[in-house]
Amino acid sequence: MNGKDRQVIHVEASVSYDVLIGEGLLKDAGERIRKLGSAERTVIVSDDRVFALYGEALKNSLQEAGIRTGEFVFSHGEQSKCMAVYESLLESLSESGLTRSDLLVALGGGVTGDLCGFAAATYQRGIRFVQIPTSLLAAVDSSVGGKTAINLRSGKNQAGCFYQPSLVICDPETLRTLPEEEYRNGCAEVIKYGMIKDTGFLRKLKEQPAREWIGEVIFRCVAMKRDVVRADEFDTGERMLLNFGHTLGHGAEKLSGYQIPHGMAVAMGMASITRAAVKNGICPKETEEELLRLLQMYNLPTELPFEKEALVQAAGADKKSSGQQIRIILPEEVGRCVIRTIPRKDLIRWIG
Ligand code: NAD
Ligand code: GLY
Repeated sequence: MNGKDRQVIHVEASVSYDVLIGEGLLKDAGERIRKLGSAERTVIVSDDRVFALYGEALKNSLQEAGIRTGEFVFSHGEQSKCMAVYESLLESLSESGLTRSDLLVALGGGVTGDLCGFAAATYQRGIRFVQIPTSLLAAVDSSVGGKTAINLRSGKNQAGCFYQPSLVICDPETLRTLPEEEYRNGCAEVIKYGMIKDTGFLRKLKEQPAREWIGEVIFRCVAMKRDVVRADEFDTGERMLLNFGHTLGHGAEKLSGYQIPHGMAVAMGMASITRAAVKNGICPKETEEELLRLLQMYNLPTELPFEKEALVQAAGADKKSSGQQIRIILPEEVGRCVIRTIPRKDLIRWIG
C-alpha cells in the first residue's frame, strides 16, 4: 500500500462496520458519515490539541455534507478519561438536545475514542458513533473492536462496555503532526501485534522503520484485530491475547498517576512478562532478546520502575483476573503467545 491508496477492512461483530484507511480521508469524512443515513446532527468529541489541528477541517467536511455540528472539547491526556469529563460530556449532549438518531464523532487518540465510545453507548441507551483516530495507537488498536471505557480511582478502564462504532475513518496524514513520543507509544502496540501473531511482520518492523511504511503497518494491524474481534468480540478467549503486556502495564500506568503513557507502559509490561516467561521455561531466551532489540530500536522502555508487590497489587484491579486467579499472556516464541491462568498469589513469584 502506498501513499494515496485507500483500503477498506470490514469488521464483523454484533454491529458490523468498515474501517477506511487512506491519506486525505478526513476531508471526505462528512460525505462518508452522511452515507450512514439519517443523522442530521453530530457532536464532535475531541481533546484540545487535536481539535485545534483538525476540528475545523472536520466541521467543514460535515457541514458541506449537510450535517449540523456541535463540539465537546476536553483537556488532552489520560486524566480526562474519567467520570467528571464523562459526566460533563453527557450533560452537554443532553443540554444540546442531541437525539438518538444523531451521532457522535470521536476525533483523536485512544483517550477520545474510549471516552466518546462509552458516552455513545450510554447516552439515551445508545447512539451511533464514528471513530476518526489521529494517533498511531488509536489507528492500529483502540478505534477498532468496540472496547470503550473510563478510568475509576481504583484502576484503569474500570467502567466501560463493548460498543462498536458505525464506521472508522483513518487518515494517516493526521499522523504527521503526532509528537515523536506519541508515535513511539503507537509503535508499542504495533510490536505487540507482531509478538502475538505474525513473525514476518515483526521481521519487517526490524528491517524497515514503521514510519516508512505506515499505511501498510496500520492496515496489517487492523486486519489482525479484525480477525481477533470476529473470533471473540467479548474478550473471553482469543482476544485476551491483545492484552499481552497489559496486566503489568496497566498497573504501572495507575501507579504513576497516569504519567506513564499507555504505549510506554505496554512496552515495559511486554518486556517484563517475557522475562518472566523465560524464567519459567515458557519461551527461550532468544525470544526475550529479540523483543528487547525491537523495543530498543523503537526507543521504547523495557524496565518497570516500580516494586513488584506494588505492581501486582495495582494489577489486581485489572479485568484480566477472576476471583483468586489471574490470566496472563505469555510468549512461547516470537509471533506466538498463549493465555495462562495462574493463582493471583503466585504472580509476584512468577515475575520475580
Ligand atoms: P491520547 O488519546 O491521549 O493521545 C495522545 C496524545 O497525542 C494526546 O495529547 C493527543 O492530544 C495527541 N494527539 C493525538 N493525535 C494527534 C495528532 N494527529 N497530532 C498531534 N497530537 C495528537 O492517547 P493514545 O495513546 O492515543 O491512546 C491511549 C488510550 O487508549 C489509553 O487510555 C488506553 O487505555 C486506550 N486504549 C484503548 C484500547 C481499546 O481497545 N479501546 C486499546 C488500546 C489503548
Ligand atoms: N486492546 C485490547 C483489545 O482491543 O482487546
